[in-house]
Amino acid sequence: MSDRKLEGRVAIITGAGGGLGAESARVLAMHGASVGVIDINMEAAERVAAEIVASGGKALAVRTDVSVEADVKAMVEAIVVRFGRVDVLYSNAALLSVDQRRLDRDVINMDVDAWDRAMGVNLRGAMLCAKYAVREMLKNEKGSLIFATSGLGVQGDLSLSAYAASKAALIMLSRSIATQYGKQGIRSNAMQIGLAPSENAHGSMPAEVIQILRDNHLTPDVGTPRQIADVVAFLASDEAAFVTGSTLVADGGFSAHTPSLVAMKALFAQTGAKGM
Ligand SMILES: NC(=O)c1ccc[n+]([C@@H]2O[C@H](COP(=O)([O-])OP(=O)(O)OC[C@H]3O[C@@H](n4cnc5c(N)ncnc54)[C@H](O)[C@@H]3O)[C@@H](O)[C@H]2O)c1
Repeated sequence: MSDRKLEGRVAIITGAGGGLGAESARVLAMHGASVGVIDINMEAAERVAAEIVASGGKALAVRTDVSVEADVKAMVEAIVVRFGRVDVLYSNAALLSVDQRRLDRDVINMDVDAWDRAMGVNLRGAMLCAKYAVREMLKNEKGSLIFATSGLGVQGDLSLSAYAASKAALIMLSRSIATQYGKQGIRSNAMQIGLAPSENAHGSMPAEVIQILRDNHLTPDVGTPRQIADVVAFLASDEAAFVTGSTLVADGGFSAHTPSLVAMKALFAQTGAKGM
């Protein structure tokens, strides 16, 4: 992995006040990018930006609600005024608060406002950021967009129906962008993320639930924010120049195996059998 593969590039990272977004901001800055640290939580965004600047990087915190078009337009303008261009958009912001997750349930119990909020932030927010970022990228005929998606965007589950539908739609939004602007130097990819626990989204998740998810990852453990950030840096850089319109799966094999794997392992352990 080259050390400064994003030297001179300008990256916008949404939801960068914490979790995977904050780690991606740090790692892209480490690779030489000037980073727009975008979050609805300005204090958190400022903390991350200050940390990057203190370690010799370039960063600007901008308070933005990605679901509000005027906010997004002003945010992209602020990044261009400060850093002169936009090369990378990592659309990472998502609504994952405990309250939201409690209301985003199975379909017959769905709270319709929670559905609208999930779509507003996760999907419309990503579209709005792309709308204004791509306009800037086209000026240089170069750009890379990355959309954070999830196994839940391709695999059914018991709740989080709105979150899941929003993540599935992001895969198609990314392909539309890849198709529409590819000949003008713009690449767009989705990144299907496995479990990489972050303080906001997973602090409240019971240990038993994390263990069930860990057992379903093929890697020794679940992921880390740094492992996800390294894939973001790859997709953002010219190392991925021939990668567009794809969904890159960074999930420790969570979606690669048979649904019965864990139950089979438990059965074999019980019976002493080595396999079928
Ligand atoms: N962490 C994981 O294991 C995991 C797994 C699969 C997918 N993902 C995806 O990765 C991304 C980051 O997840 P995370 O675990 O770091 O979540 P997180 O909750 O820690 O971070 C999300 C960030 O988005 C910000 N945000 C929320 N609403 C916003 C809005 N309207 N405008 C701007 N910012 C807003 C929050 O303030 C927060 O800083 C999400 O898109 C999530 O769906 C994460």
